[in-house]
Amino acid sequence: MQTVKVNGISLAYERQGQGIPLLLVHGFPLDHVAWQPLLPFLAQHFDVIVPDLRGLGASEMPSSGPYTMADLAADLAELLDHLGIRKTCIAGHSMGGYVTLAFARAYPERVQGLGLVASQAAPDTPERKSGRYTQAERVLAEGLEFLADAMAPKLSANPDNIPFFREMILRQPPKGIAGALQAMAERPDSLDLLASFAFPVTLVYGLADELIPPERSRETAAHLPNASLLELPGVGHSPALESPAETAEALKKLI
Ligand code: MLT
Repeated sequence: MQTVKVNGISLAYERQGQGIPLLLVHGFPLDHVAWQPLLPFLAQHFDVIVPDLRGLGASEMPSSGPYTMADLAADLAELLDHLGIRKTCIAGHSMGGYVTLAFARAYPERVQGLGLVASQAAPDTPERKSGRYTQAERVLAEGLEFLADAMAPKLSANPDNIPFFREMILRQPPKGIAGALQAMAERPDSLDLLASFAFPVTLVYGLADELIPPERSRETAAHLPNASLLELPGVGHSPALESPAETAEALKKLI
């Protein structure tokens, strides 16, 4: 991976392929490796840039205070500045979709096309929000084993994928996981933002997603009458791993 200094931290990213830039933003509690199964399908069509969000994977955690989805989006904008890229397609998986929406909110003129993969535009319910804070405290006190036990089986509809996700979760720094939980808890409602989108939008979601059920994707889609939709029967929370060819085809519609 390569690294770049953005907003005072070292941000790691992988870059593959040629064509129109496409930023792929990973979900929680994961890192850029979650996108890897998709890269062979995209690298012939896009200049694919796959960062680790701050505090996760090989990217540094800032030394000061909590951060927001807008801060995570600002890291991506600085990464693009460093690469000399003004406008990009951007697609986010789950929490990466929340970052993608924050990027579109702050830098609409830099978005060429936007993809949401197993994500949603609605904010947390009050119960979900307070659950995130409880989970963050527990991660800092106990480490990641309980989170890996709880989440790895839900990240895909195929149990064969559990070891792939367990390993990815267990290598994350607990402080980065707690930081991401807080950023997710405090994210704004983005449903009303969707009407302002003046670029192509693609939504991809699995009908067997246990973490963000299809109703949340359909709610997002209802605010995006011109978006292209790919519903994947039998697929869970990770279309990039569970159905990479179809997911890549859907993202190619952004160009
Ligand atoms: C993710 O997969 O990124 C998270 O499960 C999203 C969330 O917890 O809202």
